[in-house]
Amino acid sequence: MRLFIAVLLALSCPFSRSEVLQTFNTCSEFFSERQVPVIPGILNPNSEHARYKKICQRYNFTSVGSGYTYATLYDTESRIPVFSAYRYTARGDFIRPRIPWMIEPQLDPRVVCMTVPYRNQATEEDYFENRYGVNCGHLFPNCHAADEFTAKSTFTLTNIVPQNISFNAGSWNRIENETRDSMSTHCYDNNNKVLAHVLTGAIPGKNKLNNRVNIPSYMWTAFCCYNSRKRLWVSQAYWALNKQEKDNEAISKKSLQELQQFLSQNWVKNVKLFSSNTVLVKSLETL
Ligand SMILES: *[C@@H]1O[C@H](CO)[C@@H](O)[C@H](O)[C@H]1NC(C)=O
Ligand SMILES: *[C@@H]1O[C@H](CO)[C@@H](O)[C@H](O)[C@H]1NC(C)=O
Ligand SMILES: *[C@@H]1O[C@H](CO)[C@@H](O)[C@H](O)[C@H]1NC(C)=O
Repeated sequence: MRLFIAVLLALSCPFSRSEVLQTFNTCSEFFSERQVPVIPGILNPNSEHARYKKICQRYNFTSVGSGYTYATLYDTESRIPVFSAYRYTARGDFIRPRIPWMIEPQLDPRVVCMTVPYRNQATEEDYFENRYGVNCGHLFPNCHAADEFTAKSTFTLTNIVPQNISFNAGSWNRIENETRDSMSTHCYDNNNKVLAHVLTGAIPGKNKLNNRVNIPSYMWTAFCCYNSRKRLWVSQAYWALNKQEKDNEAISKKSLQELQQFLSQNWVKNVKLFSSNTVLVKSLETL
């Protein structure tokens, strides 16, 4: 009977197998040059933060190595991620996985599957409210994953923000496609393999889904990579309002410096996304 209940709970409450840790050290490979971004007051690189939790994401810890697939900084008050950081290698050959949204048990250690509301994270029920016309928007999109296993690991609510439905399927999806193409064209490591580091995040807004989950005002993304053919570091960035799509609204490419300036003006001062290389990085526009 106990086993039966345990199985039932496991089925109705898909748990992520990720780890909430004091630092990002064990999954630093998802940051360019293993350097976490500088976000004053929000990301303490060497210590725990009461509100902002560091998650080394994975899907199935029985797989090879650590099994980590990306890293997420999660805001337990807004109940949305600050950013997800991942490596883009190549586009995997798989179809979009159909799996339930996972939650992160380590963020709410006392909650045993829905017995008490999850205090520190969003749940799928929060996304059932449709007053705002939003749905689940990935930060690390499954279409940037190298394999199906990694793609599955993106279906956790700690990698998700409420995103306007038309924007999610429209211009933000176009940006995901455009960055994927840019990275495949311009990012080659010393072994001539595609490799880029991507950071995608959200700026909290004023409204709350289900009175719990912040609906971000903006979404932003940037990648940084080495181009071994031209022997220089390159980057590209975008940001966009999280609002209803206007017909074929084009969201223009920005430089990393422009994005950092934008984030400093609209969110947190002195943000440095790829700290060590910033001064050397060339925008794709200038190549
Ligand atoms: C996890 O990985 C193991 C070994 O690769 C596999 O047998 C198992 O089915 C996987 N579990 C899930 C949930 O994918
Ligand atoms: C993005 O690319 C996929 C193919 O990988 C395509 O199906 C989809 O329509 C594209 N999205 C947009 C908005 O163009
Ligand atoms: C989001 O999009 C829906 C339609 O997809 C629209 O009704 C709603 O007003 C939009 N919300 C915002 C905040 O723009």
